[in-house]
Amino acid sequence: MKNYERYRLMTPGECKKKGLMYYLCRHFADKKIFPLINKIKNKKILDVGIGAGYYSKVLMKKNQIIGLDQNPHLCNLPLKLIKGDATKIASLVSNKKMDIIFSTWMTEYLNEKELVAFFKESNKVLARNGKLITTIIAPSGFGSIYVFMAKMIKGINKYTYSEIVICKLLQTCGFNKIKIIPLNGFLMLPWAFLVIAE
Ligand SMILES: C[S@@+](CC[C@H](N)C(=O)[O-])C[C@H]1O[C@@H](n2cnc3c(N)ncnc32)[C@H](O)[C@@H]1O
Repeated sequence: MKNYERYRLMTPGECKKKGLMYYLCRHFADKKIFPLINKIKNKKILDVGIGAGYYSKVLMKKNQIIGLDQNPHLCNLPLKLIKGDATKIASLVSNKKMDIIFSTWMTEYLNEKELVAFFKESNKVLARNGKLITTIIAPSGFGSIYVFMAKMIKGINKYTYSEIVICKLLQTCGFNKIKIIPLNGFLMLPWAFLVIAE
């Protein structure tokens, strides 16, 4: 079973539910992510792995959003949704001049080969000076606990990547301006980081 299939029978309401890991990790990450996305305006954005549209709900107020997900039924926001895989974006999206590829809490479902495909495909649909903004779960602190819990409780394989590995992979996929913003969790323990790559 593919990892994303765990969402197949989930409702939008269930997808929005906040569990323990939200309060230990995402809550703190949001303190950095929301101020950043609040500044984005007048952009064409593709939200890959949009889920219930947690961030797109805010982004769509000032931007044009298209959502892409293997489980588009999770999103009931009034925006264009495409069903498909993050590793095949270019063949799914007709507009190849997106200003931003935005993807949060999705890359942990991708193994290295799939992650590289996602980066390459993102590059293909970005406009000149376009940006990839994505979160990556770190292999340290809460990151390793998060992945361990996913395997133990839900039987899902999730993946973590170090900043060094991500920078190397992005460079091989044609991104050269790379900014990393740490997203620490409860007690400032490392958990994830935000990548902004051009
Ligand atoms: C944890 S949810 C994150 C949702 C949203 N981005 C957020 O930040 O709340 C992960 C989403 O990624 C989607 N997903 C996972 N793997 C995918 C893939 N290979 N291609 C497209 N969507 C995928 C899942 O269907 C799910 O909706």
